[in-house]
Amino acid sequence: MKFRAVRPADAGASEVTIVPLFDDKQAPKALARGTRAVVDRLAAERGAAVLYNVLTHVGSGKEGRVVIVGAGKRAEYDAERARNIASAGIKSLWKTDAKAAAIWVDGTKIGEPRAAQAAVEGAQFAMWRPEAHRSKPEDRRLPPLGTVSIVVDGNVRDALKRGDAVGQAVNTARRMANEPANKMTPTIVAQEARALAKEAGLDIEVLDRKKCEALGMGSYLSVAQGSHQPPQFIVLRYRGRGGKGFDLGMVGKGITFDSGGISIKPNEGMYHMKADMTGAASVIAAIGAIGRLKPKVNVIAVAPCTENLPGGGATKPGDVFTSMSGKTVEVINTDAEGRLVLVDGITFAQREGATRVVDVATLTGGIVIALGSHFSGLFGKPESFVEEVRRTGAEAGDRLWPMPLTDEYRNEIKGETADLTNSAGRDASPIKAAAFIDAAVEEGTEWAHLDIAGTYWSDRDRPQAPKGPQGPAVRTLIALAERFAR
Ligand code: BES
Ligand code: MN
Ligand code: ZN
Repeated sequence: MKFRAVRPADAGASEVTIVPLFDDKQAPKALARGTRAVVDRLAAERGAAVLYNVLTHVGSGKEGRVVIVGAGKRAEYDAERARNIASAGIKSLWKTDAKAAAIWVDGTKIGEPRAAQAAVEGAQFAMWRPEAHRSKPEDRRLPPLGTVSIVVDGNVRDALKRGDAVGQAVNTARRMANEPANKMTPTIVAQEARALAKEAGLDIEVLDRKKCEALGMGSYLSVAQGSHQPPQFIVLRYRGRGGKGFDLGMVGKGITFDSGGISIKPNEGMYHMKADMTGAASVIAAIGAIGRLKPKVNVIAVAPCTENLPGGGATKPGDVFTSMSGKTVEVINTDAEGRLVLVDGITFAQREGATRVVDVATLTGGIVIALGSHFSGLFGKPESFVEEVRRTGAEAGDRLWPMPLTDEYRNEIKGETADLTNSAGRDASPIKAAAFIDAAVEEGTEWAHLDIAGTYWSDRDRPQAPKGPQGPAVRTLIALAERFAR
C-alpha cells in the first residue's frame, strides 16, 4: 500500500472517497460537485456526524464509492481523531475489492503534517486483522489497496513517510503478539528480527544460552531452565549519528509463553500469555521503523526471549541466582519472571553505552487492576525524563499514566537470603516490580518503564484495532528516537 499526497484542488474523483463529517455537516469545499452532492445527501442522515459512524454510498456514477465518517465537534479534532477517522474509513472497505482510495484530511486545527501523518497511521492500523490462521481466505482478507491518496494542502511528504513506518511497525508488533506460542518461539522471534534487520539495514546479534552464561545473565537464564525451546537474547543496533554509545536503549520483555513456571497460573485465559512477548515485539518493530526513517540517533533494542515453563529443570521457588549486574535474586515466585529477564536486558544495554533506557513489558496483573485497559503504567527516574516520555507518548498516540516509585517500595523488595526478592506480595505489585527493575539502573542512566499488561490486548473492538493485540508503546519508542536525534 502506497501513500501519496494530493492537493484538494487536484483531487478529482476516486474509486473510493473517504470524507470526515463534522457536526456542522459542512463538506470540504474543494470536493468534486458530484461527490459533494452525495456527501450532502449522506450528511442529512440521522447521526451522520456521530463520532466514527460510517455511512457509505455505492453509486454507479463517476463519484464512485463515497464513505463519510462521523468526526464529531470540529473544535475537538486532534491527531487521535484523525487516526480513528482514517481507520474507520479504511475498515469499511474490508469486504470490497477497492484498489484505490482518497482520504480527505483537515489540517486547519492541528496542522497539515500532523493530520496527514495521523491519517496514514490510521489507514495502516485498519489493514490489520487477527484471523491469521483461518483456512478460508475470505475470513482473513483485506482489501487490495494499492494507493491511498491523502487529500491535504501543504508539504506532507515526510509526514506520510513517518505515518507509514509507524503504522506498519504497530501492525508488525500486533502480528507477532497474535501468533500462538508454538508459532512464535524465541527462535522464531529471532528469525523475525533477522528479516527486519535485513530490510531496515540494522545490525543484529542473537546471543544463545552459552553466550548469555559467559556474560553472567543468571537472572534471565533462570527463566529459561524449564523449557525445551532454547533462549534467544536478541540485540539490534541502529547507528544513525555514528560514534560511540546509544542515545536510546529499548528493552522488551520477550516471554513467548508464560505458564507461570512451577508457580503455575490458573488455566482461565492462560492462552493470552502467548502475547507475553509483546514488549519484545514492540522494541523490534520500533527499531525497524527507526531504521527505515533514518534519524541521526543511535538506538539499541534488546529483547531477552524465552518461554517460562515448569519442566524438570525449572527454577524452584526459593532458588537464588546472580544477575549480570552482580546483584543476587531470590526467586520466590516463578511467575514473576518478567523482571528477571528485564534486569539482564537493561544491564546489557547500559554496558553497550545506552544513556537512556526505556523498557516495555506485560509485567503485572496489578497494573490491569489499577488502570484497566486504557492507560499503560509509567515509572522511572528522573521525574523530568518520565514526563518527557509521557508527553512524547501522548503526542504519538500512546496513553501512559505516571505511577509513584520511592525508597519505601525499594526497601520492600529486599530478599531474605539474597539482595532482592522477585516477589513481595500483591499490594502495589506493579510498583514493586518497577523497584526491582530499578535496581539494575545505574547512576546517571535516565530510565522509563512501561507496564503494558493492561493495554497489550483488548477484549473488544477499538477504533484502531479489532479485539486482540493492540501494539502499544511502538509509537512512543519511535517518537522518542526522533526526539533524541541531533
Ligand atoms: N505476564 C504476567 C503479567 C500479566 C498479567 C500480563 C495479565 C498480562 C496480563 C507476569 O509475568 C506475571 O505473572 N505477573 C505476576 C507477578 C506476581 C507473581 C508477583 C502478577 O502480576 O500477577
Ligand atoms: Mn508471569
Ligand atoms: Zn509474564
